[in-house]
Amino acid sequence: DACPPILAIDGPAGAGKSTVTRQAAAALGLLYLDTGAMYRAATWWLMTAKVNLGDPIAVAETISQCRIEFVPQSQPGLAPKVFINGQDITQAIRAPAVTAHVSQVAAQPAVRKILVKQQQLLGQNGGVAAEGRDIGTHVFPQAGLKIFLTASVEERAKRRWQELQAQGNPDISLAQLQADISQRDYADQHRAYAPFRPAPDAIEIVTDQLSIEAVIAEIIRLYQVRFSVP
Ligand code: CDP
Ligand code: CDP
Repeated sequence: DACPPILAIDGPAGAGKSTVTRQAAAALGLLYLDTGAMYRAATWWLMTAKVNLGDPIAVAETISQCRIEFVPQSQPGLAPKVFINGQDITQAIRAPAVTAHVSQVAAQPAVRKILVKQQQLLGQNGGVAAEGRDIGTHVFPQAGLKIFLTASVEERAKRRWQELQAQGNPDISLAQLQADISQRDYADQHRAYAPFRPAPDAIEIVTDQLSIEAVIAEIIRLYQVRFSVP
């Protein structure tokens, strides 16, 4: 039997990609792939090894020795655990220091080539729901359904801030979070190699005024209609 078509979801930080892609994957029976977690894992590994992030040769050499693995959790819809060379770094890759450096690492062509190859291997027979910045443009240009998920930077910063508050992390101000997100959006959109932009054939969903449940339901509906799945 042929594997189901690929669902590609791209968008900026805080657009809702992780939550939406995870839930849609669970509902549609697709493998959830968080490519942002791979760039974060690579960044964590490089920082832990104290590699100079501005040295593309040292960066490429170190990354080529990395084995990133996702371990699904028993409950569907829960974020998979992330391992690098056998070490559980699920929490560590969300640290502010990693977030602050990930765009610099992700801008390097050698890093992208290695990680994109691993992503394409996971989706070589279809059947994945992948989220990131270049899924519809570079990783899976043949994806059956491409979504560009977005919201205003104010709304996205507010969502991140509320998440941090809920986790008991009240230190960062909303203004600082918004500045950090804007800076990362800009860096991702303006890198020379594989910049972050919508695929021409992506369906854009602006989520400022939508609940997360409404977004998930809409994407599931679009996929079911397009591929006549029940
Ligand atoms: O969760 P959040 O939106 O904060 O970011 P993420 O999806 O975990 O991605 C972190 C960073 O990885 C992005 O800001 C990009 O620099 C990079 N990234 C990328 O370049 N290409 C992808 N396909 C996914 C992430
Ligand atoms: O992965 P990405 O950075 O795009 O977003 P996320 O990590 O899924 O975080 C988005 C946050 O905003 C989550 O707490 C969602 O529950 C919330 N949210 C949303 O994503 N979309 C809405 N329409 C409303 C709320």
